Amino acid sequence: MEDKNRREKLKDFFLEIKDCRKCELSGTRTKLVFGSGSAFAGIMFVGEAPGKNEDLQGLPFVGRAGRILDSLLESIGMDRSQVFIANVLKCRPPGNRDPKIEEINACKDYLFHQIGIINPKIICTLGRYSTQLLLKTTEGISGLRGKVFNIEGRIILPINHPAAVLYAPSRMEILEKDFLRIKEIMDSNYKSADSDKEAPKIEANGDEEKTEEEQLGLF
Ligand code: URA
Repeated sequence: MEDKNRREKLKDFFLEIKDCRKCELSGTRTKLVFGSGSAFAGIMFVGEAPGKNEDLQGLPFVGRAGRILDSLLESIGMDRSQVFIANVLKCRPPGNRDPKIEEINACKDYLFHQIGIINPKIICTLGRYSTQLLLKTTEGISGLRGKVFNIEGRIILPINHPAAVLYAPSRMEILEKDFLRIKEIMDSNYKSADSDKEAPKIEANGDEEKTEEEQLGLF
């Protein structure tokens, strides 16, 4: 894909899906949270689903978990303008309940399409839902975190969700270690000693208003 086109393709895709009605979450959301960052990012972070603040602003990771993500990025000398951040679900589950399988199935092609446009070299999956979706597994995050997988020429690195730190502050150290790993992989021009690992072979079942332009973030 031509680099010049990437930003445009992402914008067009946002306009195409922003009024999505494919699942029941469209009835309760305030804004669809498309994702934000650079269309040319070498690394993409994929979380679970928007929370309250994200739903209001139409931007991913703008609440407490987002501040943790920002500080982790800062710890390796990066910021949001250099990455792309998205979620498995584009709309907030009411009360921040867990995503339902039918919602994931309705939404997952949007994420896959974004990945196709941005074509990142690394996808860092944050927590269980994005890890299981992208590795096509039902294995839990604890057995997968910190391992590096190579799927269709792309590195997938599962790590804990930043929100885990809110409940267990000791997880911050593990996340910091995993971010150093990300930096190492980037510094080595996306080579990693164990990145030839295949995905586990377990089949899965299958406050503030923002304008639309602002919601497009920094593409
Ligand atoms: N948690 C997520 O998984 N995604 C967000 O956008 C915010 C919090």
